[in-house]
Amino acid sequence: MSDILTVRNARKSYGAVKALRGADLSVAAGEVHALCGDNGAGKSTLIKLVSGVERPDVGDIHVRGEKVRLANPHDALAAGIATIHQDLGLAPRMMIYQNIFMGSELERRVLGVKVLDRAAMIARSQDFLISLNSVMRDMTAKVENLSGGQRQAVAICRALRWKAEIIIMDEPTAALGVRETEEVMKLIRRLKENGVTVILISHNMHDVVAVADRVTILRGGRTEASLSTDGLTSQALSERIMGGA
Ligand SMILES: Nc1ncnc2c1ncn2[C@@H]1O[C@H](COP(=O)(O)OP(=O)(O)OP(=O)(O)O)[C@@H](O)[C@H]1O
Ligand SMILES: [Mg+2]
Repeated sequence: MSDILTVRNARKSYGAVKALRGADLSVAAGEVHALCGDNGAGKSTLIKLVSGVERPDVGDIHVRGEKVRLANPHDALAAGIATIHQDLGLAPRMMIYQNIFMGSELERRVLGVKVLDRAAMIARSQDFLISLNSVMRDMTAKVENLSGGQRQAVAICRALRWKAEIIIMDEPTAALGVRETEEVMKLIRRLKENGVTVILISHNMHDVVAVADRVTILRGGRTEASLSTDGLTSQALSERIMGGA
């Protein structure tokens, strides 16, 4: 498989704090790639570079083999990279379809005047959710009434709406219980079946070995290792992250 995303020798300082001191990341097309590391290892900073939220001081980012300059989050979306932050960025009081199409509403013309195409947005929202095997029926339900797993599905649909080929999920299960975590694992597997590349930031080693194909370990702002999860136990992964051999 060829790499869909490569970050080479990324360095990033915030004043005197060296958040990244030469981080590398190679993500193959279609895989689930976990990003692990202790608190402060640089995971979120690396993701900020890839999602266009921050610019590296040094280092290159390649998408599908081409060097890119991601000046802002819109550049990243245009390159097919969507990031789902831990707060999901949803509007709880708004409906499912309104959240999925937020900032990119579908319109139609009535007597030459543009109006929102509610029916089309509802139909497309249902299609996106079906593609995730999600059982939500009423696209006009408010997001505040959904479970944690369902909210994650809505956030993923918004990324799909932007035609994302790489979806980055920052700690998607951190606030969830066991059953909802399992729902999110299913969503990630389903994305992979649909050909989407997923980058998963997680502190949960069980989730990582259960769902990821590869894992990149950051330590102190540097890439410590990039491993296959074949035969890797959560215990061995934890030790690797903490600095054991
Ligand atoms: N905006 C900022 N200003 C100053 N220091 C920052 C900033 N963002 C991150 N840092 C520092 O950079 C280092 C890496 O932080 P980062 O958030 O990337 O770690 P992380 O691996 O995501 O950690 P966690 O698992 O706790 O989320 C830390 O020392 C952090 O305090
Ligand atoms: Mg973080």
